[in-house]
Amino acid sequence: MTTSTIQTLGEFIIAHQKDYPEASGELSALFSAIKLAAKVIHREINKAGLVNIAGLSGDENVQGEQQMKLDVLANDTFKAALAARGVVCGIASEEEDHYVLLDDGLNTNSKYIVMMDPVDGSSNIDVNVSVGTIFSVYRRRSPVGTKVSDEDFFQPGTEQVAAGYVIYGSSTMLVYSTGHGVNGFTYDPTLGVFCLSHPNMQTPELGLIYSINEGNYVHFPEGVKKYIKYCQVEDDASNRPYTSRYIGSLVSDIHRNLIYGGIYLYPSSARYPNGKLRLLYECNPIAFLVEQAGGRAICKEGQRVLELKPTSLHQRVPFFAGSKAMVDDLEQFLFDNA
Ligand code: AHG
Ligand code: MN
Ligand code: MN
Ligand code: MN
Repeated sequence: MTTSTIQTLGEFIIAHQKDYPEASGELSALFSAIKLAAKVIHREINKAGLVNIAGLSGDENVQGEQQMKLDVLANDTFKAALAARGVVCGIASEEEDHYVLLDDGLNTNSKYIVMMDPVDGSSNIDVNVSVGTIFSVYRRRSPVGTKVSDEDFFQPGTEQVAAGYVIYGSSTMLVYSTGHGVNGFTYDPTLGVFCLSHPNMQTPELGLIYSINEGNYVHFPEGVKKYIKYCQVEDDASNRPYTSRYIGSLVSDIHRNLIYGGIYLYPSSARYPNGKLRLLYECNPIAFLVEQAGGRAICKEGQRVLELKPTSLHQRVPFFAGSKAMVDDLEQFLFDNA
């Protein structure tokens, strides 16, 4: 890439300002906060193992999960970067029990709220497998000048102004959408900028990869079990058996399937009767991106994830997302076995 062909994330946002005319630069400021925090986490992750950033923090989050040190660092880094720009009036996070009023509610004149999973795939940190950050942006519903309230956070995913993820993999990428397609930017640490590398990402209509933790097979709903067997049956005409790929980091599994085509499944299981993934800061932002890339995201037969009305901050839902034809096939198995 030469300097004449590089388009940085900042330049791209300015060039597409027309996509969100009502955002008088605030969304750009919000993205600059996310960019900065992502660069900090990129730096820390690339030192994990050398500095004391791996391992458990010793605390437990509201989910009952053991927090990794990086969970806490990333949570604090994104909160601080967003608060500093004064364009976000509240944040919900996997690592926060309740939503956080920024600067004790002093950002009450801001019009956006952010929901985030600071580190997705935390269990992979200590074994050098890729992890991510997921973010979701909404306009507040409560009056500007007041403190944020539940109505600002319990909005259906269709109301998202923007959503995206950072994947800290063989390279660090930021992939996002404001509802006008999906674009991917690769971080160049020598320049300190995210460069447009995957313009207008569209996921193949049909993929050959299915991603699920088959260790939970015995507890899956009957329709999911039958779909998994369908994926494994020899059928040359439909290029089956498919390939099973599961990294255990939602962002990584989704990113690969977006590019290659594929389906990701996290059904209800014995341990997670409503599914494991959290609606507000995992399922909704990923569903937004998958749909913008031409795929589908459902939580049960006939139920689009984005149309769910949230009822609690950390609620979990079953999650099936990816290539349209594959989600269609799965949905038929769910209908047939409902
Ligand atoms: P998080 O690390 O943010 O808690 O999310 C972990 C999620 C998701 O990233 C991944 O796909 C899934 O948990 C893996 O769950 P299992 O280990 O139960 O398969
Ligand atoms: Mn977690
Ligand atoms: Mn997660
Ligand atoms: Mn997480």
